[in-house]
Amino acid sequence: MPSIKSVRGVRDILPAEAERWQRVEDAARRTFEAYGYEEIRVPLFERTELFARGIGDETDIVKKEMYTFDDRSGESLTLRPEATASLMRAYIEHGLHVLPKPVKIYTMGPMFRYERPQAGRYRQFHQLDVEALGEPHPAVDAEVIAMLLDFFGALGLAERLDLHLNSIGDPGTRKAYVSDLVRYLKPHEAQLCAQCRERLARNPLRVLDCKVPECQALIDKAPSILDTLSPDAGRHFLSVKADLDAMGIPYTVNPRLVRGLDYYVRTTFEVKTKDLGAQDAVAGGGRYDGLIEELGGSADPGIGFAVGIERVVLLLGQGDGQGGERRHPQVCLIPLGDAALKRLLPVARAARRAGLRVELGYGTRKLPKELERANRLGSPLAAIVGDDELGAGEAVLRDLKSGEQRRIPLARLVEELRSLSAARAR
Ligand code: HAM
Repeated sequence: MPSIKSVRGVRDILPAEAERWQRVEDAARRTFEAYGYEEIRVPLFERTELFARGIGDETDIVKKEMYTFDDRSGESLTLRPEATASLMRAYIEHGLHVLPKPVKIYTMGPMFRYERPQAGRYRQFHQLDVEALGEPHPAVDAEVIAMLLDFFGALGLAERLDLHLNSIGDPGTRKAYVSDLVRYLKPHEAQLCAQCRERLARNPLRVLDCKVPECQALIDKAPSILDTLSPDAGRHFLSVKADLDAMGIPYTVNPRLVRGLDYYVRTTFEVKTKDLGAQDAVAGGGRYDGLIEELGGSADPGIGFAVGIERVVLLLGQGDGQGGERRHPQVCLIPLGDAALKRLLPVARAARRAGLRVELGYGTRKLPKELERANRLGSPLAAIVGDDELGAGEAVLRDLKSGEQRRIPLARLVEELRSLSAARAR
């Protein structure tokens, strides 16, 4: 019978990789909580309409990438392609706008997009997502960006990443800019790639994001969105930059950074790396004043970002040599036979409750096999109990590196293992 394989673009995270995921999640929680963010968890699927309205009908995500299906009652549902729209829905539905502003929330979990899979791009992927709601001050933008960089700093990745910053202005001035852009691109339409020709008709701003060299040459000479900012948006952008300067945070202003979701206004940013090839964005975000209102809520502004966890894990794996570490047991308890197993079961439990990582054999394998297993698991110690030791109420405690061994009363085993493991950790 042929075995069933996983779906294209979807991966398993095996134990050897999971340690890195935990490091990423721990760094995220510690950093975000230091800035006063609280965790929120929202469902993996929502009404399709939420994403269509929130992200924008003309975006690639809504047009081509959503996993949409009718449930058994005929309602159209969609696996979330991102978290922001869901978080805004929850903010409105639970009246979170009454909380002290800014309301600061974060979430983490899987997202789903039907994209062409390649290294660093998957159909189920994971994000850390952070949002600050209800505060229009530009210092929030700078603080959110600082927090993102502190998160990368906590993982030792700061040196390998660059911050790209832009302002895409307010909706009114952006409309005027898009007309200018179309007027500039139209005469060169034939030189654009097929995708950009389509974008020119549907979502012209996205042409700026194209990586095809022929398009790049044209894009380089296109009018800059930064020249069209309203006085308010211009002041906002200046202030964000000044606040980043005040914190000593370097950035590159990139007027081509337009992002793929329609809800953004003013500040947009991405964190990029040179180490992952084409999938170079490890995080992206921006301000989205107007989205909450668009979804039927208050006129509260918002700003946030999402980090692609797979890409961060890839970077960690390349970098510090710590990647892929398994957690080793601190001791293997080896009973030789069933009577010894009965005696060691409560000892193993007591040791685990005392916080030790303990492996227990089941008394069915011969000693050499058990020792081989202990070595393969990377355990530094084995405590062996055969009939002889059982009779004497003792165990043989063996250092698996040096081969040295001594006998120790079973009644004192847990205590001894604790002090040996504590000494090793020092
Ligand atoms: P986004 O730029 O679409 O923004 O995604 C953020 C990050 O998620 C990307 O920079 C990338 O690291 C990762 N990512 C996106 N698609 C994939 C994929 N197919 N495979 C692997 N990683 C991927 C958003 O999603 C916005 N909701 C961010 C935001 C929050 N803006 C304001 N608040």
